[in-house]
Amino acid sequence: MTRHYLKVADLTKDEVLALIESARASKGERSSLLSGKTLGLIFSKPSTRTRVSFTVAAYHLGGRAIFLSEREMQLGRGETIEDTARVLSGYLNGVVIRTFSQVDLEAFAAAASIPVINGLTDERHPSQALADLMTISEYAADLSKVKVVYLGDGNNVAVSLTNILVMVGAHIVVCTPPELELPSWAVSEAEALAAAGGGVIEILEDPAEAVRDADFLYTDVWFSMGQQKVPEKRKMLEPYQIDQRLLDLAKPGCRVMHCLPAHRGEEISAEVMDGPQSIVFPQAENRLHSQKELLKLLIGDAKV
Ligand code: CP
Ligand code: NVA
Repeated sequence: MTRHYLKVADLTKDEVLALIESARASKGERSSLLSGKTLGLIFSKPSTRTRVSFTVAAYHLGGRAIFLSEREMQLGRGETIEDTARVLSGYLNGVVIRTFSQVDLEAFAAAASIPVINGLTDERHPSQALADLMTISEYAADLSKVKVVYLGDGNNVAVSLTNILVMVGAHIVVCTPPELELPSWAVSEAEALAAAGGGVIEILEDPAEAVRDADFLYTDVWFSMGQQKVPEKRKMLEPYQIDQRLLDLAKPGCRVMHCLPAHRGEEISAEVMDGPQSIVFPQAENRLHSQKELLKLLIGDAKV
């Protein structure tokens, strides 16, 4: 059966843990596992990291990648998602899709006979979550003792980060203004994964309370791709900026993460973003290493 990675829970806890361990061990590895295979990237939103890291990951495994902007495809002129998926399944060995609707992504996967990977939707960003967990594991020996605090907008990145952390037994605090909290479906999903994986999800509103004893602070942009820059939302989120004052309330040595792109002066201060506790660039690099393992698992038929 064709396996897809549309959300974090499409991998088991054991697979996720094996994947990040393997990614840590095989940084820089080159192989020919995907020799003769082609990965398609269909993107309807901009991307720097996801596009380049998946492309390079395919190259490092001896495969090829082709970039397809939705605008330049017949998809953008009304060809159906299902017809596109069936046609591309005859040419490609796997596809990474970045789009708006998770429902559209799922429709593509349902009609495809090749693995489909979520490269970000409005609801989720599970390929980012793999790199996030890998990065956390590089700075913390025991994931079950880790406390991560996500501050800001309860968005796609927050959903997938929450999923992966509770799945492996970690403690995640999602700290947002009440109007911007994680959607209720995401909280229910995280609670179910936490019950199975031994993790804890806490929802808080007060940043000073949330960051107490934190090992990692994590934030993302206040306005995701496709969203209007509403001044009221900016105002609501101001107290959630990760600045030095907030960071000093966390555990000494607490690390700071961001999926990037960052807006210095909004969700994170320049001082923190470029300071000694920031691990945002190793985190970004880990997109490459973790996605290589994902491609090996889904397209290279490798056991991780
Ligand atoms: N973090 C992330 O997905 O970055 P891009 O939008 O640049 O792909
Ligand atoms: N939440 C952001 C993540 C970008 C990688 C967005 O969807 O734009």
